[in-house]
Amino acid sequence: MTTPSRWPRWLKIALPLVLILGAVVALVAYNRFLRDYGAASFADPAERFKYGSIGAENDAGIPYWIFHVLPRVFPDKLPKPGIGYAAFGVNWEQGQELPVGFSKRRIGFDRVANTCAACHVASYRTQPEETPTLVVAGPNHTLDLEAFFRFLVDCARDPRFNADTLMAEIALSADLDLIDRLAYRYLIIPITKKTLIEREGQFQWLYRHDFPEWGRGRDDAMNLTKYFMIRWPMDDSFGPTDMPSVWNLKKYDPERGHRMNFAGDSHDPYSVIIDSALGLMGAEPKNQRDFLAHIDWLVDYLKNLPAPAYPFPVDSALAAQGKPLFDANCAACHASARTGTVVPLDEIGTDRGRIDTWGERAAVEANKVVKDMGIERAGLVEAPLTGYVAQFLDGIWLRAPYLHNGSVPTLADLLTPPAQRPQSFWRGYDLYDPARVGFVVQGVDAQQAGTAFDTRLRGNGNAGHDFGTTLPDADKAALLEYLKTL
Ligand code: HEC
Ligand code: HEC
Repeated sequence: MTTPSRWPRWLKIALPLVLILGAVVALVAYNRFLRDYGAASFADPAERFKYGSIGAENDAGIPYWIFHVLPRVFPDKLPKPGIGYAAFGVNWEQGQELPVGFSKRRIGFDRVANTCAACHVASYRTQPEETPTLVVAGPNHTLDLEAFFRFLVDCARDPRFNADTLMAEIALSADLDLIDRLAYRYLIIPITKKTLIEREGQFQWLYRHDFPEWGRGRDDAMNLTKYFMIRWPMDDSFGPTDMPSVWNLKKYDPERGHRMNFAGDSHDPYSVIIDSALGLMGAEPKNQRDFLAHIDWLVDYLKNLPAPAYPFPVDSALAAQGKPLFDANCAACHASARTGTVVPLDEIGTDRGRIDTWGERAAVEANKVVKDMGIERAGLVEAPLTGYVAQFLDGIWLRAPYLHNGSVPTLADLLTPPAQRPQSFWRGYDLYDPARVGFVVQGVDAQQAGTAFDTRLRGNGNAGHDFGTTLPDADKAALLEYLKTL
């Protein structure tokens, strides 16, 4: 007699097969969609800074092959067609698969994300025919970040962003296996489209016609933090700043009241670097130990990386004459206990736009977001913003254009009375001008490489900071020579 619990013969055979098949499918799915194969390792710290993953591929990554073909599918959406991502002013080294500041990591499939180096590596040329020299931790003054953000969203919104079109283009470059082909067609492309379109809401202020373009080398960083990290509704503030240099961070000493970021909204390098990394990742770190280990590496590397020396000859006798002029006119803020601390806006008189993009309430909320992740740091300053930090001037030659909003092209212009400073110029050309100490900002080449900057537009004011502007010309020349040596 057969007992009711006895299983039919076919099921006895099929069940193990089904289980095995299920396990295989699960393993393949895990390996091909989720498994983190880890960050590539780099022996050279500069290479690690430029290309090493900080873990942003998880939540903010773009599937590698989609990233690869977008400029080919949507040349009409590039600021300049035919040169791919170079149109956004990224730094791209010969022989590298990706631009500086873009990392690749396999999490199931290859994904591309950004690193600190997208904004914090500078390039310059001493002559037009030369290959650009890259300076790690220098400000990327050529990157048109706003145009890059808009490009991704605009592509996703376009009907051509579909599996048929993208797969046809991908097939020209890659020989994907069956699983990847199916995955890209039915999952990766539709999900990427949806994710990018979802960003549009948080990016709305990038589309406002009453705001000027950020232009090359600028970033409305605190608004990004507000809309992405603490997910606040859009307000009316607008305050893009230059990318800052991030070398020699050991100069900042919180014990001495030093503050970081242009308006002094953060306490110390550790805090700024954690917040920057979280901004890039767009989510809580998947593995907090790895994350904090990478932060420690970044803090240590950037604290001890020296500012680059001026690459042209310096007239040392003239520079020596400039030193007492600096001591008399500038040192009170730039080589004293005041350096690294906030100077009230009334005293400095520069554009106030950036100050209005952030404040005490935002700091409290952002600190809470980070604390809720279980991360301890001194964090953002929970106080109203009142002015701008009197900058340390190390490596100042490479930090052009000047002032927090990049409204003054060269050091020579900064020593000119505000009303006579250039009213409009081109930002983002990397040919250096040793005569004026800054980049070349006028002429056909600067125009072709750059974006227009108009100091009369919102957030772009070039008034204030008129120190040294009434010195005799000979003194200005000596002071300028001295500034090259900092
Ligand atoms: C998208 C561009 C961008 C990326 C990516 C980025 N930063 Fe920044 N960073 C900025 C801008 C812009 C500021 C200045 C913000 C302000 O004050 O308005 C800044 C400020 C800083 C400062 C403060 C500098 C000072 O002297 O006060 C440090 C340090 C820093 N970033 C390090 C990093 C590190 C490390 C990473 C990677 C984990 C990173 N940043 C990623 C754009 C970027
Ligand atoms: C009263 C304090 C004070 C004095 C005096 C002063 N500065 Fe400044 N300086 C500042 C502050 C504050 C900022 C930041 C202003 C901003 O970005 O809006 C600044 C910014 C700068 C910058 C731009 C830094 C950058 O990264 O873009 C340079 C260059 C500079 N100062 C040079 C000088 C020189 C040269 C002198 C003397 C002729 C001088 N400063 C005198 C307070 C001062």
